[in-house]
Amino acid sequence: SPGAAPPRAPARALAALREATDACRQCPIGAGATQSVVGEGPAHAPLMLVGEQPGDQEDRSGQPFVGPAGRLLDLALQEAGIDRRAVFVTNAVKHFKYELRGKRRIHKSPGQREIAVCVQWLEQEIALVRPHAFVALGATAARALLGRPTPVLRNRGQWLAREDGRSVLITVHPSALLRLRGADHDAGVRELVRDLARARERA
Ligand code: URA
Repeated sequence: SPGAAPPRAPARALAALREATDACRQCPIGAGATQSVVGEGPAHAPLMLVGEQPGDQEDRSGQPFVGPAGRLLDLALQEAGIDRRAVFVTNAVKHFKYELRGKRRIHKSPGQREIAVCVQWLEQEIALVRPHAFVALGATAARALLGRPTPVLRNRGQWLAREDGRSVLITVHPSALLRLRGADHDAGVRELVRDLARARERA
């Protein structure tokens, strides 16, 4: 109707979300980060990929999965026949948590409380994008999406249900594969590709 407000462009809604996450100090991580990193992808992507938190390069660039883990994820997506531009890629935690060693910023895993506080932003992204299904990359994402601790190795490759009824496929985080060498690394990548291909069927 003529008087109704136009639907807000998701890009604007995401920009607003980003301003809110930038300003968020509900946990201590934000104070040490360069900026927050929110998700990227089409407004109504059928599939949402959720990682842990931005790394060093993501913290500097403001974009999710652009560092070494992102390059491995890109490769695995390609092998699984998924166009990264067609999925929404984000993280459970929006700021980079690290420990300084000299000049180097060493990744630190987010704690339970930090994950619990930050899930409000992830839920806002979910409300904006309304994906059919999710891929949880690692334990932090699984916990954030399902609201309970969910062991990755026991559940990987499986679809679990969220409280809202939507499905979450559990798989490993690409960073875990970066720590493996040789045949273990290759097998890990093949399993990640297999899991992503399974997610593609559902979404
Ligand atoms: N690891 C993540 O979980 N997310 C990123 O964006 C980068 C590395």
